[in-house]
Amino acid sequence: MDVTIFDGPDESAMALAQRVADTLRRRPAAVLGLATGRSPVAAYAELRRMSAGGEVDFSQASTFNLDEFAGVGATHPGSFRRFMNEHLFDGVALDPERIHFLNGVAADLDAECERYEHEIDAAGGMDLLILGIGANGHIGFNEPGDQLVSRTHRVRLHEVTRCDNAALFGGNIDSVPREALSMGIGTILRAREIALIATGERKARCVERAVRGFLTTRLPASFLQTHAHVELFLDRAAAALL
Ligand code: F6R
Repeated sequence: MDVTIFDGPDESAMALAQRVADTLRRRPAAVLGLATGRSPVAAYAELRRMSAGGEVDFSQASTFNLDEFAGVGATHPGSFRRFMNEHLFDGVALDPERIHFLNGVAADLDAECERYEHEIDAAGGMDLLILGIGANGHIGFNEPGDQLVSRTHRVRLHEVTRCDNAALFGGNIDSVPREALSMGIGTILRAREIALIATGERKARCVERAVRGFLTTRLPASFLQTHAHVELFLDRAAAALL
């Protein structure tokens, strides 16, 4: 993996935003995979700023977000769709038709996961996928366990993950859905390029295991070692154990 260590979270975010902007300059109709969570927020803010200043153009790009909570509609305040509207979509000139999201309130959630896989394929696959990493080593909502699922699928969220997402649901863990829909490990690894951002000491242990550890379903991010083009954007704290 191609690891770059920055002084702090702001520098990591600026570099990630530049990486996305460079992709769009080279390939204006790029298909981007996007993560929610705290890690990419500053990079998204920088992309909004760059877009307002004409430094980056999203008008021909397509996006696919990694995951969404089950039972949560696009307009729900806790939805990842609303999070993305606030942090990126409302501030860049993306064509709404080319924003793709899992529908957490689809009547048949398994069929919804299949639909999403087909949509990614129909778009030609993802050119660049932005990832965060959970402190337990999850990527997307592929949680550690005895097995991993390759394709987009329904997942049961771990308590620590529900806790980490409580802020989206008024700080109340009981309001965080127990299930989500997520791209699978195979879906993630099919992206042509992957850029993972991790900052803060809380991520140091899982980053170290993802980069240097054994491949194990107990640390889903370890499977990124099998991908030919993964870049890690780390700050000093997240890289402390490397
Ligand atoms: C978000 C996602 C998750 C987060 C991870 C890190 O779409 O799929 O894997 O990237 O939980 O979250 P933060 O960045 O909040 O630490």
